[in-house]
Amino acid sequence: MDALMSTEIVVGDDVRHRMQIIAVANQKGGVGKTTVTMQLGAALSRRYRVLVVDVDRQQSTVWWAENLRDRLPFDFAGNQNPKVLTRLRELQVDYDFVLVDTPGSLEDTPVLETVLDVADYVVVPLTPEPLAVEPTLRTIHRLIEPRHLRHSVLLNRIDARIPSQLDTWQQLLDTTWGVPRFSAYLRQYKTQTDAPALGELVTTLRDNRRTTGTIADVTRVGFEMTEQFASSMSGRW
Ligand SMILES: Nc1ncnc2c1ncn2[C@@H]1O[C@H](COP(=O)(O)OP(=O)(O)OP(=O)(O)O)[C@@H](O)[C@H]1O
Ligand SMILES: [Mg+2]
Repeated sequence: MDALMSTEIVVGDDVRHRMQIIAVANQKGGVGKTTVTMQLGAALSRRYRVLVVDVDRQQSTVWWAENLRDRLPFDFAGNQNPKVLTRLRELQVDYDFVLVDTPGSLEDTPVLETVLDVADYVVVPLTPEPLAVEPTLRTIHRLIEPRHLRHSVLLNRIDARIPSQLDTWQQLLDTTWGVPRFSAYLRQYKTQTDAPALGELVTTLRDNRRTTGTIADVTRVGFEMTEQFASSMSGRW
């Protein structure tokens, strides 16, 4: 593993600026936490200094990052002991965004709670499947809301061939469940499924008919994300 991929989290006493710690979380497995962390990290890295941290024992991001090697557009700290997260604020490097990929299993709830205790914002990926709903709402109501954390659900794996799917799920989120969501969403693409094995991210993909939907979707999420922080960051950009 090269140096970039094993970025050491070095902490010090001088806190120079306000970085934003974004947890990507949902206790439902397989909804796209790792995909969103890596792709959103790449999109944000076009304009901002980004660190991606993985605290999931599965270490999916590590394999993905290894396949990218020197094309990784952000700093990466895989395999982190969650204890280091409590000191993330004191990082000596000037990151604008720290994205944290978290585990999707109930046994790892303490790890997730450690991340949420230090996070500024939570992205909650959700796939349009009935079985994903209850665990997602539980994550929001039991873990995120009690901490008064800003959060937004991000619909993922939307099937463009089912015309009413997006509308139905957006309405459920807005009206039935009353949880905040991104206007942007990610569609289901083979490019996304293949990206970890091929060592691709939106920043390394060549824009063509096969990839353009993925690039556009992730870019929109990145813009919406930074807009949400526009006021707190306006002093710096
Ligand atoms: N928009 C998408 N289009 C196509 N495939 C996707 C999309 N998002 C995620 N996937 C695929 O779905 C699977 C699960 O995604 P991912 O690993 O990101 O979920 P996760 O929430 O991190 O899972 P876990 O809870 O196990 O950590 C992966 O094979 C991934 O490539
Ligand atoms: Mg994962």
